[in-house]
Amino acid sequence: MNHLAGKWAGKWALITGASAGIGTAIARELAAGGTNLVLTARRRDRLAGLAAELSAKHDIRTLICVADLAQPDGPQQIFSFTEERKVTIDLLVNNAGFGSYGAFHKVPVERLIEMTHVNVTAVVHMTHLYLPGMIERGGGDILIVASTGAFQPVPYISTYAATKTFDLHFAEGLAEEVREYGVRVCALCPGSTATEFFQVAGQRNHTRRAPETAEKVAHVGLAALAAGRSSVISGFVNWLGAEAVRLVPRRIVARVTGEMFRPRKA
Ligand SMILES: NC(=O)c1ccc[n+]([C@@H]2O[C@H](COP(=O)([O-])OP(=O)(O)OC[C@H]3O[C@@H](n4cnc5c(N)ncnc54)[C@H](OP(=O)(O)O)[C@@H]3O)[C@@H](O)[C@H]2O)c1
Repeated sequence: MNHLAGKWAGKWALITGASAGIGTAIARELAAGGTNLVLTARRRDRLAGLAAELSAKHDIRTLICVADLAQPDGPQQIFSFTEERKVTIDLLVNNAGFGSYGAFHKVPVERLIEMTHVNVTAVVHMTHLYLPGMIERGGGDILIVASTGAFQPVPYISTYAATKTFDLHFAEGLAEEVREYGVRVCALCPGSTATEFFQVAGQRNHTRRAPETAEKVAHVGLAALAAGRSSVISGFVNWLGAEAVRLVPRRIVARVTGEMFRPRKA
């Protein structure tokens, strides 16, 4: 995988959800390009292992910060961590997120609220904490991991898909707002990707195609951000699917996704 050599070399990036999947892949690609990393998630052992691996392999500095983004003070804890160490974040990657598969009324409401905290509230909060510094410095980059689920309603993961619609629209709106300050914002919309996501969500892969690799998705997102795009869909077929949805009446779209995602009878 060719990395975006030098784009963020010598600068600091902060990656949420760095302990697995797409977050780990983004960390690996940035490290290969010489970017110093603040890695955050809940699983300390995973973060420590990744930090040790990347700082041994590349000439970079790494810091780990254990925090739970479902907690209201999670983002502030992370911000205080970087402030106390006088680390200037030039690239913020809002990647942490999860889904929960099943009929809405059967999923515990605590899980759904936790999901909206991690996928939505924490994204807004983290961005609000780090953006003012970027504006003041006249530059900075923010990558927000949304999903192809953002482009249409998806029964049985209705809440998850709606959180990702939020992420997409939030990133695209903000990108326009802060362009004049030299800050770039980009929503990365992966389709099905081989990570721990499906295991965490209790969901099978509903597409017939093989999932993309986390490494490919990470590269697509970083390349789009570096190119100044406000959103990107990873994979041509995923892009085609998201675009095709615009031509179909909304209620039909929800019927089709409902059939695709309906739980199979045992
Ligand atoms: N995989 C896919 O098919 C797919 C498709 C479209 C979009 N996405 C999006 O891609 C992003 C990354 O997911 P992934 O596929 O890489 O899944 P993953 O392998 O399950 O990784 C999810 C990451 O989020 C972190 N996380 C979850 N809950 C958290 C919490 N309460 N506080 C802090 N961190 C938390 C996890 O870390 P800890 O458990 O250590 O806290 C982990 O590092 C998510 O936003 C997801 O919605 C994934």
